[in-house]
Amino acid sequence: MRVISTVIELDNLIEETNLIPLGFVPTMGALHEGHLALVNIAIKKCPLVVVSIFVNPTQFNDKNDLKNYPRTIDSDLALLGTVLRQTDIVFTPDEKEIYPQEDTRKFLFGNLDNVMEALHRPGHFNGVAQVVSRFFELVKPDIAVFGLKDFQQLTVIKNLVGQTNNKVKIIPCPIVREKDGLAMSSRNRLLDKEIRNHAPVIYKTLSAASVMAGKYDIPEIVSFVEKSINNIPGFSLEYFEVVDDSELIPVRKKEDIKPDRQYYGCIAVKAGKIRLIDNINIAFD
Ligand code: PAF
Repeated sequence: MRVISTVIELDNLIEETNLIPLGFVPTMGALHEGHLALVNIAIKKCPLVVVSIFVNPTQFNDKNDLKNYPRTIDSDLALLGTVLRQTDIVFTPDEKEIYPQEDTRKFLFGNLDNVMEALHRPGHFNGVAQVVSRFFELVKPDIAVFGLKDFQQLTVIKNLVGQTNNKVKIIPCPIVREKDGLAMSSRNRLLDKEIRNHAPVIYKTLSAASVMAGKYDIPEIVSFVEKSINNIPGFSLEYFEVVDDSELIPVRKKEDIKPDRQYYGCIAVKAGKIRLIDNINIAFD
C-alpha cells in the first residue's frame, strides 16, 4: 500500500495507477475489524482502493469529544497493511489539505437532520456532509463503503449523493460485532472496564426488542428498552426510535407501519462517559 498525505500526491497516484472501478473507504482512524470489513468489500469490488484517515473537526459539536477521539495512526497503518494491496492508497491528509479555506457550506437534509443523532449532536451531519463531499471531489470514487452501524449517517450520505447528482455508488456494510455482541466502534476502547463488561446489554436489548415486535406495540417495546438499559448502573438511554430506512420518520404505533418499508430500531446510550450507538432491523408482521 502507498501512504500519502497531500492532494497532489493523491491526484498523481490515482492518475498514474489508472484502474477502475475506484473504491473509497473514508475513516477517522482508530481502526478495528469493523473498518477492515468495509475495506474488504471495496477490495472485492475494485482493483484500486483509497482509504482515508482524517479526524474531521467540523463534525464534532463537542470540543472534548474531538480532543479525546483516539488517534492511533501507527496501529491503523499496520492493520491496513494486512488487507490492502501494493497499489492501494492510504490518504492521511492534515486539516489544511481538506479545508484550505473554512468550509461554510450548509446542507439541507429535511427530517434526516431533525431526529436521533441530529438532535443530540447539532451540526454533526453538516460536518459529515462537508468532509464526505470534499473527499468525493478529491478521490472521485466509483463506489464508497459506509458502515450500517452509523445508520443515520448512511441515510444522510445517500441523500447527499442524490442532491449533488454524484455518480458514486454507496455500499452499506453490515455491523461487525465483538463476540459478546457489542457493535465494534472506535469509542469502545474508551470504555472503563466495568462499563465495557456490561456493554453487551445494548445489543441484547435490541435483539429482544426485535423479537417483541411480533407480539407487542411500539410503546411497550420502548418502555422495555428504557428499563433494560437504565437498570444497569452507569448506563442511561439517550433515545430509542423505530424509524423507516429512507426518511427516518419515527413510528409511534404499529398501525403506522408501511408494508413496503424496512424499519430499524436505533439506539443511543450513554455508557459511563461514552456515547454508543447501535441499531437492528425490525420486522413487524
Ligand atoms: O463514520 C466515520 O468514521 C466518519 O463520520 C466519516 C464518514 C469518515 C466522515 O468523517
